[in-house]
Amino acid sequence: MSTLNKDQSDYWNGEVGQRWAAYHQALDAAFAPFTEALFAGAALDPGDRVLDIGCGAGDTALIAARRVGRSGRVTAADLSEPLLAVGRERAAREAPDAAPIEWLRADAQDHAFEPQFDHALSRFGVMFFEDSAAAFANIRRALVTGGRLRFLCWRSMAENQWVTLARDAVLPLLPEIEPPQPGAPGPFRFAAPDTLLPILEAAGFRAIACEPIDRLMRVGATPEAAADFVATRGPVARLLRERDPALQATALKIITQLFTERFGKGPVDLGAACWLVSGHT
Ligand SMILES: C[S@@+](CC[C@H](N)C(=O)[O-])C[C@H]1O[C@@H](n2cnc3c(N)ncnc32)[C@H](O)[C@@H]1O
Repeated sequence: MSTLNKDQSDYWNGEVGQRWAAYHQALDAAFAPFTEALFAGAALDPGDRVLDIGCGAGDTALIAARRVGRSGRVTAADLSEPLLAVGRERAAREAPDAAPIEWLRADAQDHAFEPQFDHALSRFGVMFFEDSAAAFANIRRALVTGGRLRFLCWRSMAENQWVTLARDAVLPLLPEIEPPQPGAPGPFRFAAPDTLLPILEAAGFRAIACEPIDRLMRVGATPEAAADFVATRGPVARLLRERDPALQATALKIITQLFTERFGKGPVDLGAACWLVSGHT
């Protein structure tokens, strides 16, 4: 495997990948409204060949495999071995009658995929490339003529209440935090379509569309579960990583209190905003 995305590989194979693997059910449940939008217009037909980029623990690869059926094929590519391991195990258990899935540990930026795919799709897996232009050109090469690209990426942090609410509450504990570098790999990198569209055009995609999708995301059935979710996965978790355990415990308490004040004992549903990006070769 290439070492171009070594930092990301270390990140997703280390503690963070283990955590995403352990909590994949809660993540899949939280992302479900977006997953539905991803597949609603995806036009996956029986027999189609699908590439899932940054497939994580395999939720979308499994859905694709069921959609294209036994005559289809799915390649689920990711840098993270712990997440691929969950996907492999789930496929054997949850989708024995679906299309065969190849679980591929690969850097989607430069892996030499067979140019055979009818669809390349991704749920939040395309914002972490070292060189996005090279990565989307590589993905374009993997598609047949007329092949379709379809992925979800986050809009700005400010539009994602599931991040800002908890982030604003814990920032006073972290006075040295600097805003992320524009264009650096990270969840909000493609918040502005004018950073993304030229990359996709240069890669050779046509009829590119960016549709805003706004949904409520259930981050937890209780304030405690929701606080655990945001403090251990996603952008707020990134801020709290490798901190003093006492600071992490204080942050968790602050977030739990905040959610309890807002939602009582009930489920925590927070605003989430992303782009559904589509195009074809
Ligand atoms: C935010 S997670 C999303 C995972 C999954 N698609 C989901 O929705 O649950 C991002 C994923 O992209 C993968 N990833 C990041 N950079 C990658 C690259 N260059 N090639 C392949 N996968 C990559 C990570 O390992 C991680 O699994």
